[in-house]
Amino acid sequence: MAKKIVTGAGGFIGSHLTDTLLQQGHEVIGIDEFNDYYDTNLKRKNIAHLQDHPQFELIEAEIQTLDWHKLLADVDVVYHQAAQAGVRASWGQGFRMYTERNINATQVILEAAKDAKNLQRFVFASTSSVYGDAETLPTHEGICPAPVSPYGITKLAAERLCMLYHKNFGVPFVSLRYFTVYGPRQRPDMAFHKFFKAVLDNQAIPIYGDGEQTRDFTFVSDAVAANLAAANAPDAVGEIFNIGGGSRVVLSQVLQTMEEIVGQPIQRNHIGKAMGDARHTAADISKAQKLLGWQPQISLRDGLTQEWEWIQRLY
Ligand SMILES: NC(=O)c1ccc[n+]([C@@H]2O[C@H](COP(=O)([O-])OP(=O)(O)OC[C@H]3O[C@@H](n4cnc5c(N)ncnc54)[C@H](O)[C@@H]3O)[C@@H](O)[C@H]2O)c1
Repeated sequence: MAKKIVTGAGGFIGSHLTDTLLQQGHEVIGIDEFNDYYDTNLKRKNIAHLQDHPQFELIEAEIQTLDWHKLLADVDVVYHQAAQAGVRASWGQGFRMYTERNINATQVILEAAKDAKNLQRFVFASTSSVYGDAETLPTHEGICPAPVSPYGITKLAAERLCMLYHKNFGVPFVSLRYFTVYGPRQRPDMAFHKFFKAVLDNQAIPIYGDGEQTRDFTFVSDAVAANLAAANAPDAVGEIFNIGGGSRVVLSQVLQTMEEIVGQPIQRNHIGKAMGDARHTAADISKAQKLLGWQPQISLRDGLTQEWEWIQRLY
């Protein structure tokens, strides 16, 4: 059986995807450089249990330093999750990391992918950030992207690059535009992780802006399921899909649910609006439902409960 590659295998989404692929009996090559965008111990913990797994090989390296022609010889699916994530750090000097890790790294894999005879799918982790402040909510994939952050610009450039390699060289690319993913192992720079940690530390949680922004939150196992569907659905090649949790929620409502889960009031500390954050996001997921046969399964309350349980174990 051909192998699968997961880039960013030590990260939040990549580690869950790796777990699921191994559970399904696949051989997986995980690639991660364990960069210090956030505590590398967290990334190592995410996959520590896989250290001696007979079907798992970890390559600890930066994507652009690897021989991708050799790597792809025996691989039928690449799940390209590695990236420099995060909207706020993408301004200023930080931008260089975004162009390297999001655009240049993707281009290196694509160059090899065009000659890879066994490659059946190249699944690209894209983002709702490509839409920026979309005028149409829920937003469908046909809306013209207009990122409001440098991060979104680099992810859109990488997604467009994938499309170019698909059109010119037949690279079997599929793009998944995730809408705010959450759950156990969520990155420490992301809101729910910060919120739950603040509750543990008895501190007020930081709220950017007025708290009335809305998001479409996606539980991580639903994002994983979308990846598997994207790798297998016959009509997915060359297509872009929104992957969202299925409902649009106001941040202040989320906080109410969180208070019920943690069983105590949560103090709020309102700070200025973060530059680069879209005010509202909402996914029209009808295309993924139709072509991928995919449907989010986990409610916000259940997903938040799982994340809270994980945070308590972690700290
Ligand atoms: N988490 C979300 O809500 C969300 C939303 C939209 C899109 N995405 C996308 O999903 C993907 C995964 O996000 P995440 O939240 O799991 O992030 P993450 O930071 O937890 O994981 C990314 C991993 O990739 C590794 N990495 C980055 N650049 C690399 C390189 N050049 N070579 C080798 N390893 C490298 C990092 O060390 C990290 O472990 C990213 O592509 C991100 O843009 C995430």
